[in-house]
Amino acid sequence: MYVHIPFCRQQCNYCDFHFTVSFKQKERVLAALKQEIKQRADEGENIIYQSVYIGGGTPSVLTPDELEDLFSLLYKHYKIQSRAEITIETNPDDLKPNFLKLLKNSTPVNRLSIGIQSFHDRDLQLMNRLHTATGALKSIEDSKAAGYSNINLDLIYGIPNALNKDWRNNLKVLEKLEIPHLSAYHLTIEPKTVFAYYRKKGMIKEMPEEESLRQFKTLMEFAGQAGYEHYEISNFAKSEFYSRHNLGYWTQKPYLGFGPSAHSFNGIKRRWNVANNTLYVQAIEKGIPDYYSWEEIDTSKAYNEYVLTSLRTIWGIKTLSAGG
Ligand SMILES: C[S@@+](CC[C@H](N)C(=O)[O-])C[C@H]1O[C@@H](n2cnc3c(N)ncnc32)[C@H](O)[C@@H]1O
Ligand code: SF4
Repeated sequence: MYVHIPFCRQQCNYCDFHFTVSFKQKERVLAALKQEIKQRADEGENIIYQSVYIGGGTPSVLTPDELEDLFSLLYKHYKIQSRAEITIETNPDDLKPNFLKLLKNSTPVNRLSIGIQSFHDRDLQLMNRLHTATGALKSIEDSKAAGYSNINLDLIYGIPNALNKDWRNNLKVLEKLEIPHLSAYHLTIEPKTVFAYYRKKGMIKEMPEEESLRQFKTLMEFAGQAGYEHYEISNFAKSEFYSRHNLGYWTQKPYLGFGPSAHSFNGIKRRWNVANNTLYVQAIEKGIPDYYSWEEIDTSKAYNEYVLTSLRTIWGIKTLSAGG
């Protein structure tokens, strides 16, 4: 199960996820989201959910009370396994001790995904992140002190002007932190982002492919010697601390997604909600179910998706033996 929270405190220069930095409609979006969660309860009738992922945007901009409210609704209307993986995406600047304490005590969240991106202030400034490197380290320390050990950190490599040695330094910092899961993404310069504008104006240059490859190799070498299993192109886990939620996507499991821009898949159809808060809210308030589109996943599409996602993982594609 996925819930999209489309709000961020500040716009990062690389990001094209669906979010707004205006909180004017927050109450209305949350009300509509709750409405959607209630309305679609029959779709989840025969399913026991093994993971819940609150993503965004930045779900940690919500108060612990707002998160508690969302969870009680999800638990009221859907069957969620008692040992389900419950993840929330967070930004370091939100992870204050009091927030973490309330999150731990009043919500079922048992896994944190923290968007660190880099431990270098220069990179963080270039990306327009709200936190500093020191703030990032403090947020990790505070998360552990609050009792969270199942933690993922997001890092980005291939950052303009960052050298392989800067990337190696980031990984060295990570090694000391004893974190069970890492998502390391190569920067992509997406259309309509500030980075796309910077590139057009000649203010930044995309990294040459040989340097990207060097940084990817550095990442793989680091992962090997630090005890991480490289189980998906961008994902690394110690002691099988795989992201159970993402494994679901990569193994074609059905999922329900709530909130603007969220996708759902029931094994036959994929649907996606409109990536526009106003249109989403208006449709739900009026009771008109025209805030999503859908497509049927026929055998050929299903096969292509299976090949594409499987090839990203270390498990690859299951081949049938002759006559099997
Ligand atoms: C939904 S986003 C972020 C969640 C949270 N708001 C944060 O900023 O940490 C998930 C992750 O995708 C990665 N990401 C987003 N845009 C990217 C891009 N253009 N290139 C590479 N990684 C990107 C970042 O590492 C980010 O933490
Ligand atoms: S990276 Fe995270 S905080 Fe930054 S704009 Fe994207 S979703 Fe928001």
